Amino acid sequence: MRAIVINRHGGPDVLERVMMDMPAPQPGETLVRVAAVAVNPADFKWRAGMFQAFMPVTFPHVLGYDIAGEVAGGAGFSPGTRVFGALDPFRKGGYAEYVAVPAEYLREIPDGLDFPAAAAIPTAGLTGLQLVERGVDLQPGQRVLITGALGAVGRFALHFAKARGAHVVCAVRAAHRDGVMALGADAVLALGEEDWRGAPFDHVIDTVGGEAVARLCAHLKPGGRIATAATTPIPAEGLPASPEFFAVRSCGSDLARLGQAVASGAIKVPVAQLIPLDQAAEAHRLVERGGQGGKVILIP
Ligand SMILES: NC(=O)c1ccc[n+]([C@@H]2O[C@H](COP(=O)([O-])OP(=O)(O)OC[C@H]3O[C@@H](n4cnc5c(N)ncnc54)[C@H](OP(=O)(O)O)[C@@H]3O)[C@@H](O)[C@H]2O)c1
Repeated sequence: MRAIVINRHGGPDVLERVMMDMPAPQPGETLVRVAAVAVNPADFKWRAGMFQAFMPVTFPHVLGYDIAGEVAGGAGFSPGTRVFGALDPFRKGGYAEYVAVPAEYLREIPDGLDFPAAAAIPTAGLTGLQLVERGVDLQPGQRVLITGALGAVGRFALHFAKARGAHVVCAVRAAHRDGVMALGADAVLALGEEDWRGAPFDHVIDTVGGEAVARLCAHLKPGGRIATAATTPIPAEGLPASPEFFAVRSCGSDLARLGQAVASGAIKVPVAQLIPLDQAAEAHRLVERGGQGGKVILIP
Protein backbone atom coordinates (compact mmCIF):
# COMPACT_ATOMS: atom_id res chain seq x y z
CA MET A 1 0.00 0.00 0.00
CA ARG A 2 1.02 3.65 -0.37
CA ALA A 3 1.91 5.55 2.78
CA ILE A 4 3.65 8.73 3.85
CA VAL A 5 6.38 8.14 6.42
CA ILE A 6 9.06 10.06 8.24
CA ASN A 7 12.49 8.49 8.65
CA ARG A 8 13.83 11.37 10.74
CA HIS A 9 12.54 14.53 12.39
CA GLY A 10 12.63 17.83 10.53
CA GLY A 11 10.68 20.14 8.24
CA PRO A 12 7.85 19.13 5.87
CA ASP A 13 10.37 17.72 3.39
CA VAL A 14 11.05 14.73 5.66
CA LEU A 15 7.59 13.38 4.69
CA GLU A 16 8.28 10.64 2.14
CA ARG A 17 5.97 8.57 -0.04
CA VAL A 18 6.76 4.86 0.22
CA MET A 19 5.20 1.47 -0.52
CA MET A 20 4.80 -0.65 2.59
CA ASP A 21 3.10 -3.88 3.68
CA MET A 22 -0.60 -3.76 4.47
CA PRO A 23 -1.19 -3.67 8.25
CA ALA A 24 -2.34 -6.99 9.73
CA PRO A 25 -5.18 -6.38 12.21
CA GLN A 26 -4.60 -7.95 15.65
CA PRO A 27 -7.48 -9.49 17.65
CA GLY A 28 -10.05 -6.76 18.37
CA GLU A 29 -8.77 -4.54 15.56
CA THR A 30 -10.56 -3.37 12.44
CA LEU A 31 -8.80 -2.95 9.09
CA VAL A 32 -9.91 0.34 7.52
CA ARG A 33 -9.38 1.51 3.95
CA VAL A 34 -8.62 5.16 4.62
CA ALA A 35 -10.70 7.56 2.51
CA ALA A 36 -9.74 10.78 4.35
CA VAL A 37 -7.23 11.66 7.07
CA ALA A 38 -7.08 15.03 8.84
CA VAL A 39 -3.89 16.99 9.39
CA ASN A 40 -3.84 18.15 13.01
CA PRO A 41 -1.41 20.71 14.50
CA ALA A 42 0.07 17.82 16.51
CA ASP A 43 1.13 16.10 13.25
CA PHE A 44 3.71 18.73 12.41
CA LYS A 45 4.87 18.76 16.04
CA TRP A 46 5.45 14.98 15.97
CA ARG A 47 7.17 15.40 12.59
CA ALA A 48 9.47 18.09 13.97
CA GLY A 49 10.36 15.97 17.04
CA MET A 50 8.72 18.25 19.61
CA PHE A 51 7.45 15.29 21.67
CA GLN A 52 10.68 13.30 21.40
CA ALA A 53 11.65 13.81 25.05
CA PHE A 54 8.57 12.08 26.50
CA MET A 55 7.55 9.74 23.68
CA PRO A 56 10.29 8.97 21.15
CA VAL A 57 9.05 7.44 17.88
CA THR A 58 10.76 4.68 15.92
CA PHE A 59 11.33 5.06 12.19
CA PRO A 60 9.82 4.68 9.69
CA HIS A 61 6.85 6.35 11.38
CA VAL A 62 3.42 6.97 9.82
CA LEU A 63 1.72 10.11 11.18
CA GLY A 64 -2.03 10.83 11.23
CA TYR A 65 -4.62 10.45 13.99
CA ASP A 66 -8.02 11.18 12.54
CA ILE A 67 -9.35 8.92 9.84
CA ALA A 68 -12.55 8.15 8.01
CA GLY A 69 -12.94 5.25 5.63
CA GLU A 70 -14.51 1.88 4.86
CA VAL A 71 -14.06 -1.32 6.81
CA ALA A 72 -11.95 -3.77 4.81
CA GLY A 73 -11.83 -6.60 7.38
CA GLY A 74 -10.99 -7.49 10.97
CA ALA A 75 -13.17 -7.12 14.08
CA GLY A 76 -16.18 -5.06 15.04
CA PHE A 77 -17.94 -4.06 11.80
CA SER A 78 -19.17 -5.58 8.55
CA PRO A 79 -16.96 -5.00 5.52
CA GLY A 80 -17.96 -1.82 3.71
CA THR A 81 -19.22 -0.03 6.85
CA ARG A 82 -18.30 3.66 6.83
CA VAL A 83 -16.37 4.42 10.02
CA PHE A 84 -14.40 7.26 11.60
CA GLY A 85 -12.22 7.66 14.65
CA ALA A 86 -9.10 8.92 16.37
CA LEU A 87 -6.17 6.49 16.29
CA ASP A 88 -3.88 5.84 19.22
CA PRO A 89 -1.90 9.10 19.58
CA PHE A 90 1.44 7.30 19.95
CA ARG A 91 0.96 4.58 17.31
CA LYS A 92 -0.91 6.72 14.71
CA GLY A 93 -0.73 5.36 11.11
CA GLY A 94 -3.40 7.40 9.30
CA TYR A 95 -1.30 8.73 6.38
CA ALA A 96 -1.73 5.47 4.48
CA GLU A 97 -4.18 3.60 2.28
CA TYR A 98 -5.03 1.18 5.10
CA VAL A 99 -4.74 1.20 8.88
CA ALA A 100 -5.52 -1.34 11.62
CA VAL A 101 -7.40 0.25 14.53
CA PRO A 102 -8.82 -1.11 17.81
CA ALA A 103 -12.52 -1.46 16.96
CA GLU A 104 -13.49 0.41 20.15
CA TYR A 105 -11.86 3.60 18.74
CA LEU A 106 -14.22 3.61 15.75
CA ARG A 107 -17.85 4.51 15.22
CA GLU A 108 -20.11 4.32 12.18
CA ILE A 109 -20.27 7.60 10.24
CA PRO A 110 -23.79 9.05 10.53
CA ASP A 111 -25.78 9.46 7.31
CA GLY A 112 -25.26 12.83 5.70
CA LEU A 113 -21.56 13.11 6.57
CA ASP A 114 -18.97 12.48 3.86
CA PHE A 115 -15.51 11.08 4.61
CA PRO A 116 -13.65 14.44 4.80
CA ALA A 117 -16.26 15.90 7.18
CA ALA A 118 -16.05 12.79 9.38
CA ALA A 119 -12.23 12.87 9.41
CA ALA A 120 -12.36 16.50 10.57
CA ILE A 121 -14.17 15.56 13.80
CA PRO A 122 -12.35 13.11 16.10
CA THR A 123 -9.36 14.73 17.83
CA ALA A 124 -10.67 18.30 17.74
CA GLY A 125 -14.17 17.23 18.73
CA LEU A 126 -13.12 14.91 21.54
CA THR A 127 -10.73 17.54 22.93
CA GLY A 128 -13.31 20.36 22.85
CA LEU A 129 -16.05 18.22 24.40
CA GLN A 130 -13.79 16.70 27.04
CA LEU A 131 -12.28 20.06 28.06
CA VAL A 132 -15.80 21.23 28.91
CA GLU A 133 -17.12 18.07 30.54
CA ARG A 134 -13.98 16.61 32.17
CA GLY A 135 -11.34 19.34 32.09
CA VAL A 136 -13.35 21.92 34.04
CA ASP A 137 -16.70 20.12 34.53
CA LEU A 138 -18.55 23.28 33.51
CA GLN A 139 -21.90 23.88 35.26
CA PRO A 140 -25.01 25.77 34.09
CA GLY A 141 -24.72 29.51 34.69
CA GLN A 142 -20.95 29.48 35.10
CA ARG A 143 -18.85 32.01 33.23
CA VAL A 144 -16.07 30.45 31.13
CA LEU A 145 -13.32 31.97 29.02
CA ILE A 146 -12.48 29.97 25.87
CA THR A 147 -9.38 30.96 23.88
CA GLY A 148 -8.94 30.24 20.16
CA ALA A 149 -12.68 29.55 19.99
CA LEU A 150 -12.88 29.66 16.20
CA GLY A 151 -10.22 26.94 15.88
CA ALA A 152 -10.90 23.24 15.44
CA VAL A 153 -10.89 22.42 19.17
CA GLY A 154 -12.25 25.79 20.31
CA ARG A 155 -15.46 25.67 18.26
CA PHE A 156 -16.36 22.29 19.79
CA ALA A 157 -15.59 23.65 23.28
CA LEU A 158 -17.81 26.67 22.57
CA HIS A 159 -20.68 24.45 21.41
CA PHE A 160 -20.54 22.12 24.42
CA ALA A 161 -20.07 25.01 26.88
CA LYS A 162 -23.27 26.61 25.55
CA ALA A 163 -24.99 23.20 25.65
CA ARG A 164 -24.16 23.08 29.38
CA GLY A 165 -25.85 26.45 29.88
CA ALA A 166 -22.65 28.41 30.53
CA HIS A 167 -21.98 32.08 29.80
CA VAL A 168 -19.13 31.95 27.27
CA VAL A 169 -16.53 34.66 26.74
CA CYS A 170 -14.25 34.02 23.76
CA ALA A 171 -10.72 35.39 23.34
CA VAL A 172 -9.79 35.15 19.67
CA ARG A 173 -7.92 36.96 16.91
CA ALA A 174 -9.60 40.33 16.20
CA ALA A 175 -10.59 39.01 12.76
CA HIS A 176 -12.49 36.11 14.40
CA ARG A 177 -14.81 38.29 16.53
CA ASP A 178 -17.87 38.07 14.28
CA GLY A 179 -17.27 34.38 13.62
CA VAL A 180 -17.48 33.39 17.29
CA MET A 181 -20.45 35.66 17.98
CA ALA A 182 -22.24 33.86 15.11
CA LEU A 183 -21.44 30.54 16.82
CA GLY A 184 -23.17 31.67 20.02
CA ALA A 185 -20.48 33.36 22.14
CA ASP A 186 -21.93 35.69 24.77
CA ALA A 187 -18.96 38.08 24.66
CA VAL A 188 -15.74 38.34 22.72
CA LEU A 189 -12.38 40.05 23.09
CA ALA A 190 -9.29 40.25 20.90
CA LEU A 191 -6.62 38.03 22.47
CA GLY A 192 -3.44 39.99 23.18
CA GLU A 193 -5.11 43.32 22.34
CA GLU A 194 -7.83 43.77 24.95
CA ASP A 195 -8.16 43.10 28.66
CA TRP A 196 -11.35 41.68 30.21
CA ARG A 197 -13.49 44.21 32.09
CA GLY A 198 -16.49 42.05 33.01
CA ALA A 199 -17.21 39.68 35.92
CA PRO A 200 -14.48 37.15 36.76
CA PHE A 201 -14.39 33.73 35.11
CA ASP A 202 -15.35 30.52 36.92
CA HIS A 203 -13.01 28.58 34.61
CA VAL A 204 -10.70 28.99 31.63
CA ILE A 205 -10.49 26.61 28.66
CA ASP A 206 -7.41 27.34 26.59
CA THR A 207 -6.32 26.20 23.13
CA VAL A 208 -3.64 28.86 22.46
CA GLY A 209 -1.33 29.24 25.50
CA GLY A 210 1.27 31.93 26.14
CA GLU A 211 1.56 35.28 27.92
CA ALA A 212 -1.61 36.87 26.52
CA VAL A 213 -3.70 33.97 27.86
CA ALA A 214 -1.94 34.25 31.23
CA ARG A 215 -2.97 37.92 31.47
CA LEU A 216 -6.63 36.94 30.99
CA CYS A 217 -6.31 34.08 33.50
CA ALA A 218 -5.67 36.75 36.14
CA HIS A 219 -9.48 37.29 35.98
CA LEU A 220 -10.18 33.76 37.26
CA LYS A 221 -12.20 33.39 40.47
CA PRO A 222 -10.45 31.71 43.41
CA GLY A 223 -11.09 27.97 43.15
CA GLY A 224 -11.54 28.13 39.35
CA ARG A 225 -9.61 25.90 36.96
CA ILE A 226 -7.47 26.59 33.92
CA ALA A 227 -7.55 23.61 31.53
CA THR A 228 -5.23 23.97 28.57
CA ALA A 229 -4.76 21.74 25.54
CA ALA A 230 -2.14 24.01 23.98
CA THR A 231 1.47 22.93 23.60
CA THR A 232 2.60 26.53 24.30
CA PRO A 233 2.50 26.73 28.12
CA ILE A 234 0.67 29.45 30.05
CA PRO A 235 3.18 31.13 32.38
CA ALA A 236 1.76 30.31 35.83
CA GLU A 237 3.42 32.95 37.98
CA GLY A 238 0.94 35.03 39.97
CA LEU A 239 -2.17 33.27 38.62
CA PRO A 240 -5.07 32.30 40.93
CA ALA A 241 -4.70 28.63 39.78
CA SER A 242 -2.02 26.55 38.07
CA PRO A 243 -2.78 25.75 34.43
CA GLU A 244 -3.53 22.02 34.03
CA PHE A 245 -2.56 20.37 30.75
CA PHE A 246 -5.48 18.37 29.37
CA ALA A 247 -4.78 15.36 27.14
CA VAL A 248 -7.60 14.06 24.93
CA ARG A 249 -8.73 10.45 25.37
CA SER A 250 -10.25 8.13 22.79
CA CYS A 251 -13.88 7.48 23.72
CA GLY A 252 -16.36 5.79 21.40
CA SER A 253 -19.45 7.16 23.14
CA ASP A 254 -18.12 10.74 22.98
CA LEU A 255 -17.28 10.17 19.31
CA ALA A 256 -20.82 8.99 18.58
CA ARG A 257 -22.24 12.16 20.21
CA LEU A 258 -19.90 14.30 18.14
CA GLY A 259 -20.85 12.57 14.90
CA GLN A 260 -24.55 13.10 15.62
CA ALA A 261 -24.02 16.76 16.58
CA VAL A 262 -22.20 17.48 13.32
CA ALA A 263 -24.58 15.42 11.16
CA SER A 264 -27.59 17.23 12.66
CA GLY A 265 -26.03 20.61 11.79
CA ALA A 266 -25.72 21.65 15.46
CA ILE A 267 -21.95 22.08 15.00
CA LYS A 268 -20.30 23.18 11.79
CA VAL A 269 -16.82 21.78 11.12
CA PRO A 270 -15.36 23.65 8.19
CA VAL A 271 -13.06 21.75 5.84
CA ALA A 272 -10.59 24.24 4.37
CA GLN A 273 -8.85 22.07 1.77
CA LEU A 274 -8.72 18.54 0.39
CA ILE A 275 -5.18 17.61 -0.64
CA PRO A 276 -3.90 14.34 -2.17
CA LEU A 277 -1.99 12.21 0.38
CA ASP A 278 1.13 12.38 -1.78
CA GLN A 279 1.20 16.15 -1.12
CA ALA A 280 1.32 15.74 2.67
CA ALA A 281 4.34 18.08 2.88
CA GLU A 282 2.32 20.92 1.35
CA ALA A 283 -0.56 20.16 3.74
CA HIS A 284 1.84 20.44 6.70
CA ARG A 285 3.12 23.80 5.47
CA LEU A 286 -0.47 25.10 5.33
CA VAL A 287 -1.44 23.85 8.78
CA GLU A 288 1.82 25.09 10.32
CA ARG A 289 1.19 28.56 8.85
CA GLY A 290 -2.27 28.70 10.51
CA GLY A 291 -5.17 30.86 9.41
CA GLN A 292 -6.78 28.09 7.31
CA GLY A 293 -10.23 28.60 8.82
CA GLY A 294 -10.92 24.87 8.79
CA LYS A 295 -9.36 21.42 8.64
CA VAL A 296 -6.91 20.38 5.97
CA ILE A 297 -7.76 16.84 4.87
CA LEU A 298 -5.53 14.40 3.00
CA ILE A 299 -7.11 12.06 0.49
CA PRO A 300 -5.19 8.78 -0.13
N1 LIG B 1 -3.79 18.23 24.53
C1 LIG B 1 -4.48 17.59 23.62
O1 LIG B 1 -4.93 16.46 23.81
C2 LIG B 1 -4.74 18.29 22.31
C3 LIG B 1 -5.69 17.79 21.41
C4 LIG B 1 -5.95 18.54 20.25
C5 LIG B 1 -5.25 19.72 20.00
N2 LIG B 1 -4.30 20.12 20.89
C6 LIG B 1 -3.57 21.38 20.71
O2 LIG B 1 -4.52 22.44 20.86
C7 LIG B 1 -4.13 23.55 20.07
C8 LIG B 1 -5.29 23.97 19.16
O3 LIG B 1 -5.56 22.92 18.25
P1 LIG B 1 -6.61 23.13 17.06
O4 LIG B 1 -6.67 21.85 16.33
O5 LIG B 1 -7.85 23.77 17.57
O6 LIG B 1 -5.80 24.22 16.17
P2 LIG B 1 -6.42 25.28 15.16
O7 LIG B 1 -7.56 24.71 14.41
O8 LIG B 1 -5.25 25.84 14.42
O9 LIG B 1 -7.04 26.40 16.11
C9 LIG B 1 -6.26 27.28 16.86
C10 LIG B 1 -7.04 28.59 16.91
O10 LIG B 1 -6.33 29.51 17.74
C11 LIG B 1 -6.05 30.68 16.97
N3 LIG B 1 -4.80 31.25 17.43
C12 LIG B 1 -3.57 30.72 17.33
N4 LIG B 1 -2.66 31.55 17.88
C13 LIG B 1 -3.35 32.62 18.34
C14 LIG B 1 -2.99 33.82 19.01
N5 LIG B 1 -1.72 34.07 19.33
N6 LIG B 1 -3.97 34.69 19.32
C15 LIG B 1 -5.26 34.45 19.00
N7 LIG B 1 -5.67 33.33 18.37
C16 LIG B 1 -4.73 32.43 18.05
C17 LIG B 1 -5.98 30.21 15.54
O11 LIG B 1 -6.15 31.26 14.63
P3 LIG B 1 -5.45 31.15 13.18
O12 LIG B 1 -6.02 29.96 12.50
O13 LIG B 1 -5.80 32.45 12.55
O14 LIG B 1 -3.98 30.98 13.48
C18 LIG B 1 -7.14 29.23 15.52
O15 LIG B 1 -8.39 29.89 15.42
C19 LIG B 1 -2.86 23.10 19.31
O16 LIG B 1 -1.72 23.51 20.05
C20 LIG B 1 -2.97 21.59 19.32
O17 LIG B 1 -1.71 20.95 19.17
C21 LIG B 1 -4.04 19.44 22.02
